[in-house]
Amino acid sequence: MSIEFFTRLPLHGETFHLPGDPRNRGDWNNPSRPGTGAVSNFAVGDDFTYIDYLSQIARGAEIAGFDGVLMVNTQFGEEPWIVSSLLARETKRLKFVAAFHPSSTSPWNAAQAAATYQRATGGRLVWNIIQGSSEAAQRAIGDELPHDERYERAGEFVHAVRGYFGSESFTYRGKYYSASGGGLRGPLRKAPIPRICTAGASDAAKEFAAQHADYYLLLAEDPAIVAEHIRDVRERALKYGRSDIQFGLSVDVIARATDAEARAEAKRIFDEGVAAGVVDVVASITEQLSPTFQKRRKLYHDKEVRDYDDLFIAPNLWSGYGYIGIPPGFALVGDYAAIVERIREFQALGISLFFIAGYPHLEEAYRIGEHILPHFRSERVGARVPANDDAAAGDGFERPLAFASGLDTKQRHSGANG
Ligand SMILES: Cc1cc2nc3c(=O)[nH]c(=O)nc-3n(C[C@H](O)[C@H](O)[C@H](O)COP(=O)(O)O)c2cc1C
Repeated sequence: MSIEFFTRLPLHGETFHLPGDPRNRGDWNNPSRPGTGAVSNFAVGDDFTYIDYLSQIARGAEIAGFDGVLMVNTQFGEEPWIVSSLLARETKRLKFVAAFHPSSTSPWNAAQAAATYQRATGGRLVWNIIQGSSEAAQRAIGDELPHDERYERAGEFVHAVRGYFGSESFTYRGKYYSASGGGLRGPLRKAPIPRICTAGASDAAKEFAAQHADYYLLLAEDPAIVAEHIRDVRERALKYGRSDIQFGLSVDVIARATDAEARAEAKRIFDEGVAAGVVDVVASITEQLSPTFQKRRKLYHDKEVRDYDDLFIAPNLWSGYGYIGIPPGFALVGDYAAIVERIREFQALGISLFFIAGYPHLEEAYRIGEHILPHFRSERVGARVPANDDAAAGDGFERPLAFASGLDTKQRHSGANG
């Protein structure tokens, strides 16, 4: 099975320290305290702003060999489609996963905007269709539909978007949307529809994914629970005649040369939470998605969990971020070999798309790119994976003699991969 690796663009600031700490890059902190730069002052041209920092991460990610970046959509964060557009021409091949609510646009507007983006970038847009983490959050952005109906509407939304991409004369009468003879025309017809991802543990979310999504996304948690979600969504998809639905997994990574160094980093951030008295500030996403997390949280209340290392829920899988308000909440913590092994285990369960990131995102994109991604080189499709064996690939470039001499093609090849 092929495998893809995306990392994340932090659209609401870095969290190398606790959220709100002014030492974090970005300006998601108390405005009365000095920040560290990468702050948006609305003064274009005389300063570096947060988008410049995001641009560095995006470029770093693609240099490090990532296929794409995930952008989470929250009320207090930058808007993902806009960021995708701003950064598309600062990058060459990186894909951008833009999360959005169907309620924020119309199927036609989404189809046309996506077609323009796809044409301009060579098809680098991926959609993550979201429904909101709570009723209150949805009402705050003007969406009054109850939970399950939001998924019903999302189903119609995707149906209509596929209709516009697939036909110049799409006609449809639904409960939420309609179209009479619409569709992408002229050169826009050449654009590929974005890959469609979605997430959510509710029945409505899974049914929506089963019927309409290319990828169902999960948080890393107890592998047995991940396996059960995959089985469930696969079975539901088969009901709709779909055997090709794929699975993505989001998990933070604290990877270091030794296990002790990785654990020290987990302890560092957890201790910041203890010192600030914020332990147990839990990201709602983590709570909603994870039965394991809810169980562990109860243990925390019952005082059975006290230190950072009580929060491993499976080998190398640490839930500590979830206790100090840093979503998605779970991280793989360990030496490089252990992280590769854990990724392989999730891959064996059926995951083919990994979203892995660390803090700060820029430095950790390079670290993961250098120490983790090379282990998966032969299974990566479509990615320009950094390698030093291009000479063997017959790419037409002339090599300096010193490099080319003394080794035949086969020797050079096996040396680079070994
Ligand atoms: C990898 C991943 C990325 C997500 N990204 C977002 C996001 O950007 N914005 C958001 O509001 N919810 C996001 N979610 C949450 C889900 O889309 C969904 O709204 C949530 O899980 C609640 O679904 P449910 O109530 O139907 O179970 C994400 C979930 C996962 C697993």
